[in-house]
Amino acid sequence: MSSQPTENNVTTPRHIAVIMDGNGRWAKRRRLPRVAGHRAGVEAVRSTVKACAKRGVEALTLFAFSSENWRRPEQEVGLLMDLFLTALERETQSLHKNDVRLRVIGNIAAFGDKLKQKIREAEDLTANNNGLKLNIAANYGGRWDITQAARRLAQQVVEGQRQLSDITEETLESCQLLHGLPEPDLFIRTGGEKRISNFLLWHLAYTELYFTDVCWPDFDNAALDSAIASYSARERRFGRTSEQVQQGA
Ligand code: IPE
Ligand code: IPE
Ligand code: MG
Repeated sequence: MSSQPTENNVTTPRHIAVIMDGNGRWAKRRRLPRVAGHRAGVEAVRSTVKACAKRGVEALTLFAFSSENWRRPEQEVGLLMDLFLTALERETQSLHKNDVRLRVIGNIAAFGDKLKQKIREAEDLTANNNGLKLNIAANYGGRWDITQAARRLAQQVVEGQRQLSDITEETLESCQLLHGLPEPDLFIRTGGEKRISNFLLWHLAYTELYFTDVCWPDFDNAALDSAIASYSARERRFGRTSEQVQQGA
């Protein structure tokens, strides 16, 4: 199954992955504390989730906290954790009502008990929903994801449940946290930096990359539409020639 062109000839990506960057700079420009940027960022998450659901996007994966973000000042890390908890408390019911399936991908073992419990509750409540599949990457690192997958497979080999020859791209993929979803078609990074910052290393192999200077709190529906329009204008060749693609080979 591929993305479907809509009536106005825009191809909607099935899966969008976003590095929500630029909250700090957004706040700094307004002479506000960094946390004000993170708070405004939560609003942008809400509007982006809504917009993706409305546009028929199947999956949305948002990078909320990287495995490297622990290096930030303790106070900022604490505020980010509080914000995550509050957002879950406030938004879970509404996500559920809108048929969104929420999953948190990342090493959540490192979080406090209360946050872990809220994550579990939100995931359980929305587990059978059939609308937008929303993945929040928290304490996530692409290298960690690949490493934990390799370890799980190796364990199965050690225990005799699998042969060495079972370690393939398919099985390695199946042990990573986004298993079961189409690979991201469109990657968006806001805030002007042009790097992957240890996000979905495995899954971005053939994703169309889109970078914008817009800071995350300012990322509105028009900005999302610009990203989708850019994606829509690309020719995805997956190694083939342009002629082959046009012939539908
Ligand atoms: C992204 O915004 C949010 C997180 C990483 C949690 P930043 O906080 O990185 O904002 P900048 O890059 O400093 O502007
Ligand atoms: C990446 O943003 C992580 C998230 C948006 C959660 P950073 O702001 O932490 O990235 P670097 O460190 O500048 O690459
Ligand atoms: Mg940043």
